[in-house]
Amino acid sequence: MIKKKIAILGSSGNLGGYFVHFFNSDLNSQINKFTDVYFVSRKNNNKTEKKNSTNLHYLNYKNFKKIKSLDYIIYLASSSNSKKYTSSNYKYYYIKLKQDLKSLYKKFPKSKFLYFSSGAVYGDKKKTNSNKIYNFSKYYYSLNKKMSEIHLKNFSKQYSYKIIILRGYSFFGPFLLNKHINSFVVNNFIKQSLTTNIIKIDNPNCKKIYRSFLCYDDLVKNVLEIIKLKFQNYLILNMGSDQKISLYNLAKKIQKITGSKIYIKQSKSKIYESDEISYYPNLRLLKKYINFHQNNLDKSLEKVINLEKFELSHYKKVTKPKNLVLTSGPLITDNEKKYVLDSVTNSWGKYKNKYNDKLTTQIKKKFKIKYAIPCSSATGALHLALEAMGIGKNDEVILPAISWIAIARAVTLVGAKPVFVDVCDKTLNIDPEKIENKISKKTAAIIVVHMYGYSCEIEKILKICKKYKIKLLEDSAPALGSMNKNKYLGTIGDAGVYSFQGAKIVTSGEGGMLITNNKKIYDKALTISNFGIKSTEMKYYWVRYNGLKYKMSNLQQSMIYAQLKSLNYILEKKNIIHNLYKKYLFNNKNIYLIENNKNCRPNHWMNTLIIKNKKFNNKTIIEYLYKNNIDTRPIFPMITEYPMWKYYSFKLNKENLNTSKFIFNKGINLPSGVNLDKKTIIKICNLVNKFIYSNKLYNSI
Ligand SMILES: Cc1ncc(COP(=O)(O)O)c(C=O)c1O
Repeated sequence: MIKKKIAILGSSGNLGGYFVHFFNSDLNSQINKFTDVYFVSRKNNNKTEKKNSTNLHYLNYKNFKKIKSLDYIIYLASSSNSKKYTSSNYKYYYIKLKQDLKSLYKKFPKSKFLYFSSGAVYGDKKKTNSNKIYNFSKYYYSLNKKMSEIHLKNFSKQYSYKIIILRGYSFFGPFLLNKHINSFVVNNFIKQSLTTNIIKIDNPNCKKIYRSFLCYDDLVKNVLEIIKLKFQNYLILNMGSDQKISLYNLAKKIQKITGSKIYIKQSKSKIYESDEISYYPNLRLLKKYINFHQNNLDKSLEKVINLEKFELSHYKKVTKPKNLVLTSGPLITDNEKKYVLDSVTNSWGKYKNKYNDKLTTQIKKKFKIKYAIPCSSATGALHLALEAMGIGKNDEVILPAISWIAIARAVTLVGAKPVFVDVCDKTLNIDPEKIENKISKKTAAIIVVHMYGYSCEIEKILKICKKYKIKLLEDSAPALGSMNKNKYLGTIGDAGVYSFQGAKIVTSGEGGMLITNNKKIYDKALTISNFGIKSTEMKYYWVRYNGLKYKMSNLQQSMIYAQLKSLNYILEKKNIIHNLYKKYLFNNKNIYLIENNKNCRPNHWMNTLIIKNKKFNNKTIIEYLYKNNIDTRPIFPMITEYPMWKYYSFKLNKENLNTSKFIFNKGINLPSGVNLDKKTIIKICNLVNKFIYSNKLYNSI
């Protein structure tokens, strides 16, 4: 997820202190994972705690000006010292506010602006002598606040700038309000923040004006809650309980349709995750009260209601069948037990790299490659490879439109832009004929994926890379052991990666590998994978470069070391399984298994069935087979269709992806685990053939 940036201007003031405190004390929680927070202040306030964390930054205004983009600006800067307010200078404050606003708007037109109109907006002219806190002109102070709010509203209208005014109150005086948050106030607050620009908070249960203050503590907590929910593309369903239709089912439906995680808020103040709840609202109330902060409320609701019948039955209790035939599964021999036990028992201290050495030697020898770096995952290895190739900002990287998100995320992690190319329907691999059209001056690399273990047309693509002098990265995450002519996939481009995630042909639960014949790429990747410390560094802990940590543990390496010893056997077994599917499955030009390109020897990681019928949607066959104790997986969706892209500022190319658009829901991965027996494969084939016949899917398209 792309990190959202929040600036808190005026962070050394009273309320600023609360923000600093909350972000600091929230170090392990969700919000810090996806935010970069800039506390901006003229003063260096020592009162507040300042923990060191990579996402919390403390800046002065000079450095603040260097920030290029912001998602939220929380403006606390206009009331730093209320004692200053007099009839002659209060005007200065809102003039300054207006100037500030204009320049902020100019620089950050897309940011959301939260203005805290804190303080005694309803204040009176009287001074209180008994308490020195009141020794300032409250009247001018509150006048200034009111004027500022008016200016902000006008400004908001004039520029269509999203400004949220939060009228919280501070805690001066004898009426300290360190009480619990009133649930009504919180509900109202969240609801208003999602639907309107102006939020006013009054506590209706308190009669006296001063008692209606919501103390900063609570205010800040709630602001963070809203920011958190909005950032994560969560939807808030704001409704009561005790109604007729299962909210759980409805929430699930909306979650499925919108791809958003859903929180459900009961009439009390607590917010629950949808997986844990079972409250009952009705549909009329749902329509009335759901407050999506996105504008597409109506559209989403239409879909919810149209799909209701189907979805409700779909989410009826599904009990997992006994003896479910799984899609994948590892081969565990005595070797795994032997080497993992050895690693657990002996590979510590000075032997901590024992299996790193063994595994890298084994990989280099087996796959005839010069360099190998064991990593925590293939995703990490992809990221590492791009970093080591020097791909970064202003670069474009070409990718297939159908594959796993890992490739696109690796590209955005280095700051480059992904450019998607259509796939071939026969192999689901990138279509080499459509690549050159998408090459621009900014193209720095192509990532090819050998989908489900079947080689892409690597030689053609290699030629294109040479012609345009761009790098070639092979995502061979699923293609360990597959070959093109006499070369292993992953070893042909500038670099390649393998995955050892749980479903892969060789596995240690999680894990990956970066391989290359290029010494420069290897050296750089190795340094980055170890915090930026060079392997030749003489000084202990001495970090010379920007790095990450993408290492694989010795335990995992011992497991992979053992698994690779069985690779030839696994490949033979996979070939037999594939031939059985080929023999027993209905087969014509519209219904086929993904096959190898010429000269390729695939590992047959998955047996992928494509049914090229317009009517067909893989969901139906997945459900049918599941009811018959057969577990399958859909093929990957199109990467371009994920809701996450809305968090990026660049425009995604979606043109000329017609094959991908047609094919993405036409395929399923059949059970392909190495332990599958012939009888089970024949049973699966019979079921699939029956499904195809009974649904008349064999007609030509
Ligand atoms: C094509 C492809 N690339 C990358 C990955 C990511 O691998 P890992 O889970 O090891 O990060 C996968 C995982 O399934 C994959 O299928």
